[in-house]
Amino acid sequence: MLRHHHLLAAVWAMALCGAAAAAPAATPAWMDAKLTPDRRAELVLGEMSLDEQIALLHGDFPTLMGAKRPPGVQVSAGWLPGVPRLGVPALYESDASLGVANARRGPKDDATALPSGLALAATWDEQAAYAAGAMIGKEARQKGFNVLLAGGTNLIREPRNGRNFEYLSEDPLLSGRIAGASIRGIQSNHIISTTKHYLANDQETGRMVASVEIDPAALRESDLLAFEIAVETGKPGSVMCSYNRIGGTYACEHPAMLNGVLKGDWGWKGFVMSDWGAVHSVDAALAGLDQESGQQLDRQVFFDAPLKAAVAGGQVPAARVRDMAKRVLRAMFAEGLFDHPVVAGGLDTAADGAVAQRAAEGGIVLLKNAGGVLPLAATAKKIVVIGGRADVGVMSGGGSSQVMPVGSKSFPAPKGAPAWGGGIVFHPSAPLAAIKARAKGQVVFNDGSDFAAAAAAAKGADVVVVFADQWASEGMDVSLSLADAQDGLIAAVAGANPNTVVVLQTGAPVLMPWAGQAPAIVEAWYAGSRGGEAIARVLFGEVDAQGRLPVSFPASLSQLPRPELPGAKDFVVEGLANAAPMKPFDIRYDEGSDVGYRWFARTGAQPLFPFGRGLSYTTFRYAGLKVAGGRTLSASFTVTNTGRRAGVDTPQVYLTDAAGRTQQRLIGWSKVALKPGETRTVRVSADPRLVASWDEPGHAWRVAAGIYRLFVGADAASPRLKGEAKLTAATLKP
Ligand code: BGC
Repeated sequence: MLRHHHLLAAVWAMALCGAAAAAPAATPAWMDAKLTPDRRAELVLGEMSLDEQIALLHGDFPTLMGAKRPPGVQVSAGWLPGVPRLGVPALYESDASLGVANARRGPKDDATALPSGLALAATWDEQAAYAAGAMIGKEARQKGFNVLLAGGTNLIREPRNGRNFEYLSEDPLLSGRIAGASIRGIQSNHIISTTKHYLANDQETGRMVASVEIDPAALRESDLLAFEIAVETGKPGSVMCSYNRIGGTYACEHPAMLNGVLKGDWGWKGFVMSDWGAVHSVDAALAGLDQESGQQLDRQVFFDAPLKAAVAGGQVPAARVRDMAKRVLRAMFAEGLFDHPVVAGGLDTAADGAVAQRAAEGGIVLLKNAGGVLPLAATAKKIVVIGGRADVGVMSGGGSSQVMPVGSKSFPAPKGAPAWGGGIVFHPSAPLAAIKARAKGQVVFNDGSDFAAAAAAAKGADVVVVFADQWASEGMDVSLSLADAQDGLIAAVAGANPNTVVVLQTGAPVLMPWAGQAPAIVEAWYAGSRGGEAIARVLFGEVDAQGRLPVSFPASLSQLPRPELPGAKDFVVEGLANAAPMKPFDIRYDEGSDVGYRWFARTGAQPLFPFGRGLSYTTFRYAGLKVAGGRTLSASFTVTNTGRRAGVDTPQVYLTDAAGRTQQRLIGWSKVALKPGETRTVRVSADPRLVASWDEPGHAWRVAAGIYRLFVGADAASPRLKGEAKLTAATLKP
């Protein structure tokens, strides 16, 4: 501790005086790490002028700074200079939904790409999410950043949302817990993570103008609950508010959501930063926004001179500005930005790639495996690999989160895609090479551009692996169909060879008109820096197929609560929806909290593949269910590996009835690795908020007394064990 203090004093003196003569300043009181972050923030705040406080409240977008970008400030999403006079560190912010976004910084700038958010959630593994966060947080430090714009927690309410690949799941518990774990991992590096985009920014079409209309109780039980769990388990230093409006009010100036729910009900002490270009007034400060980000994108820099004028004019109390600055400072102290200044250094991309690969392997989902086509036999005499640029690499999603590991290749984006994107980026780990490295026989590649040629190539092979993909990006939404007639390619290939394995690389669910024809289907999502290796390892069974769907795959558009994407009619350009239509419109979430599998349960429709689905290379039996009631619902049961291979299973527990009300809710799961014949007991206890419902007038969660029913299953649509127990009435204050 002493040595540490010494170093800090030196860093501190340098910060105070620039490179010039080091003044022998005494270590200031707020550098005493034994004090609470609150106290430390108050101490430094006591020395700050109004101008210095305001300097913490609005940030530049370095990408747009041109010649004004100071030396040492990288092209990146955000920079705030701090208060050098007092040794308050600058904030260096990078996008980081899936790794440190470096797309704008040139071909030599390396960074490791995680698999997409859905892949991470498909692991159903908080440890994997923590490791993933810890890895990108470490790279952030090594690259000179101390704030990561990460933690995408929006629910997958809209399967066509072009940013789903940055998000996690359609379920609040799964999303909240995976987000929380990855935020904890990021912040274990003494840097700040956000969770974003608060709130209900669940589609890109019209994100700047659309207003989400949803019943307040339903909002609590769905999108808000995901954030609530992420905030309480991840303790992010910052929450980024979103572009859209909710009930007519912009998310970044929404008093009920910011002051009311986030800071009030949840007692969260961090700072709210805006999304880039999401601030519309000084009044946002009164609603609970603490920091204006990407200020060049707003009509004015509201939180600079206009905020100062508002303080002078009495419109914004000086105490509120102090609170805003205190929240920023408090997060900086709490996460260690003062005590552990960022020191840039080299990356260890081999070790970091291994973390990304493990996450990808854990999240690849085997959706279908008729006749045991998979795992591939290394001894197959001839494997034909078709399509999907499998010879180049693995697909990644576009937009501000784009990570570009060295060796990535960019292809032209479809017409209508956002102009600021870097095209369709393939990460450098080619599945073809990874398959060749494992196969003992011949491996032939066909690029799939000519269906007849592809089908001819497929004929006579022992097995065919056809890759198909769907690119998605921030700033647009997608259709649920594979682009470029890939459905036709798959049908042609599957028609030519009965041993056809389809590997999908998609941002979210897609329709599969050929699903009946293909004996094996693998959802590999966007698989990240080492995606090709991960895919090959799953295909050859070097690891068990162990991902489970974090989202329902609908059988048709008509099964969705909104068969037509809101706003799309006016703004679709060749199947892609523009993010910034001019006319405001409403997005009605009349399904309320019945998102995804809950909607399927409510309507009785059969999805193509249900939430939670995923096959293993072995089989499992569940038995011995015991259910206990009282304050909340608990279940225990055993899982046995009944097959001949070691394998990994994720049994899930779902509430189905809450005191006479039909209500499907995932209440818990466990990921277990079992040897053949091995049995493990699993215990799950429901977070009471999942058995309760939100009482808006009473401002509380209410558990009604009565019988509660649950089932244990391998997915949301296939109950295997059923049980029930009695709960007592309870009221839970938020
Ligand atoms: C995105 C945010 C991102 C920010 C900074 C916005 O367009 O919505 O997710 O963090 O840009 O790049």
